[in-house]
Amino acid sequence: MTKSLESKSILLIVGGGIAAYKSLDLVRRLRERGARVRVVMTAAAKEFVTPLAFASLANEKVYDDLFSATDEQEMGHIQLSREADLIVAAPATAHLLARAAQGLCDDLATTLLLATDKRALFAPAMNLRMWVAPATQRNVATLNRDGALFVGPNDGDMACGEYGPGRMSEPLEIVAAIEAALQGDTRLPLPASMGAPGPLTGRHVIVTSGPTHEAIDPVRYIANRSSGKQGHAIAAAAAAAGARVTLVSGPVNLPDPAGCDVIHVDSARDMFAAVGRALPADVFIGAAAVADWRVEAAAQKIKKEQGAVAPTFALVENPDILASVARAQERPRLVVGFAAETQQVIAHARDKLTRKGCDLIVANDVSEGSGVFGGDANEAHLVSRASVESWPRMSKEAVASRLVARLAELLASSEAVE
Ligand code: CTP
Repeated sequence: MTKSLESKSILLIVGGGIAAYKSLDLVRRLRERGARVRVVMTAAAKEFVTPLAFASLANEKVYDDLFSATDEQEMGHIQLSREADLIVAAPATAHLLARAAQGLCDDLATTLLLATDKRALFAPAMNLRMWVAPATQRNVATLNRDGALFVGPNDGDMACGEYGPGRMSEPLEIVAAIEAALQGDTRLPLPASMGAPGPLTGRHVIVTSGPTHEAIDPVRYIANRSSGKQGHAIAAAAAAAGARVTLVSGPVNLPDPAGCDVIHVDSARDMFAAVGRALPADVFIGAAAVADWRVEAAAQKIKKEQGAVAPTFALVENPDILASVARAQERPRLVVGFAAETQQVIAHARDKLTRKGCDLIVANDVSEGSGVFGGDANEAHLVSRASVESWPRMSKEAVASRLVARLAELLASSEAVE
């Protein structure tokens, strides 16, 4: 068996039709070819096949609930739809097609279809009268126009005893359609109205954001109070200014900002590697509160033995992402760091600027009572080698827009930052 779908990720939406049993085989065929398959079931689908059957074949948790708190924490619906290379709806019932064509999002399946940035491939399955009904044909035409792909339906005997078009394509036919779709670019283009050029159009901006988690053992970690609000706001502002943005985010409780490629990481070392892979870039902004140290994580949970002394941990220094980017061969034109200080804010920021070799430091006072960590406002100083701009207290979104505007100006001028 050739692994024709190696490293591909398929999000399979199973609608409520008797053909759902064929989708079990589809999962098996896709996995044989090396694909990762995440399954989302509609409520009606679960009347035909159990989530357990899909979970066993996919070897993954099956998703079905739009409002599940744990799923939102582990994997939000936006991420679920973005991580896939292709969304496949099989069986796609008349009702599912109608909801998708209208842009309704009243359950997880339809929300994913609306939120995705990838094409969806529909494998319709329904009674022939339902298939030929003008309403269904209108919905298919609408979905087609919006960039959706279709496989089938086939002619044949139907579960309801009639004969005609409406049978879901066979699993191997769907696999072939998936392989064909993945030959091309499955990303959906943004509407032209969103592609209006901005001051950062054509630029690549990498932003790090949030804290890092440094594992102590499989259940414990060292973290810090960073919320990621400032870094995420900067990524959003850069995307709104037309940049291609790669946001490398530590664990945060924030949605992925629109229009950014988001890479989720846990530890400083993961963040370091992700930034390295994302280079080259025109601008690097290190807004993450990267842990300076880690411990050598224990492979098993450290147990509290009766009467034993408390464990001690030796700290090992983490790679400095900002300093490495500033000294990289592919150094971005502008390298911007953040300094969270509790005293002598400007002096420490200047020192950091030189030590880490960056062009600008956004310095802020995070001393107790400033409310910066986790809060919505920030009082920032933009520190370069030669100057300091002290900005009044403003929202983190306003800081982000102002910073992005300054960076766009600096990129547009040919002078070095002084
Ligand atoms: N930073 C980084 N990688 C690290 C540590 C920090 O990229 N391993 C970046 C942060 O994203 C931020 C800047 O460096 O942009 C400042 O981080 P900070 O931890 O304040 O700097 P330190 O060098 O640790 O200085 P100090 O702890 O003395 O304040």
